[in-house]
Amino acid sequence: MKATLFLLMAIFTAVPGFSQSHDQAEIDKKVRAFLNKHSGEWYDMNVPAKDGKLLHDLILENNYQRALEIGTSTGHSSIWMAWALSKTGGKLITIELDEKRHKEALKNFKEAGVSDFIDARLADAHVLVPKLEGPFDFVFSDADKTWYRNYFLAVDPKLLVNGCYTTHNVSDRPGYGSNSDYLEFLRSLPNYKTSVNSEGNGMSISYKTADR
Ligand SMILES: C[S@@+](CC[C@H](N)C(=O)[O-])C[C@H]1O[C@@H](n2cnc3c(N)ncnc32)[C@H](O)[C@@H]1O
Repeated sequence: MKATLFLLMAIFTAVPGFSQSHDQAEIDKKVRAFLNKHSGEWYDMNVPAKDGKLLHDLILENNYQRALEIGTSTGHSSIWMAWALSKTGGKLITIELDEKRHKEALKNFKEAGVSDFIDARLADAHVLVPKLEGPFDFVFSDADKTWYRNYFLAVDPKLLVNGCYTTHNVSDRPGYGSNSDYLEFLRSLPNYKTSVNSEGNGMSISYKTADR
């Protein structure tokens, strides 16, 4: 009996991916349960689930591992991204200025079981983003819209080629809230290929094709 237990423990720790896939199943279960329980409860300017899933899928499909989010709020989008990063072996840095939302996000990360994949910073992104070391391969910009271009310019040198820079509330349809000037700016960049996903609240998706 003792020998069998020992053997099982040896297999569990020695076979690559064995313990990880077991943990992943647990994480998947916990995140799904959390998202189901709280769907319809995201009132702090959070992304709709459609946009959360879009972020998750972009990270997973491209195997991104070094992600940055500007604008955590209470953590809905962070949880979708961290879930994907739990599968790619990556981590997310997310920044929030408002202490109450930051604290609520930390609580949500714990309940969703994704705290290990998130480095949540309480800071002014205007100050912190230019100081971050990088490199990053995935960025989600979702804080103050008037600063979108500045955030992009600060992160661009730290974004790896083939990396992806996404921005929320960007639409092809001109008008209030579409951030059309910013979209025009993204589309003018010769080393980025930008498209817009309009299934949720509008998301620009810019792939970096070359350093300059
Ligand atoms: C649209 S919400 C983010 C929603 C979040 N991405 C989600 O889907 O759950 C924007 C957040 O950015 C934060 N914010 C605004 N200006 C900021 C700044 N300069 N630095 C850090 N966070 C900022 C706001 O406090 C707000 O919580």
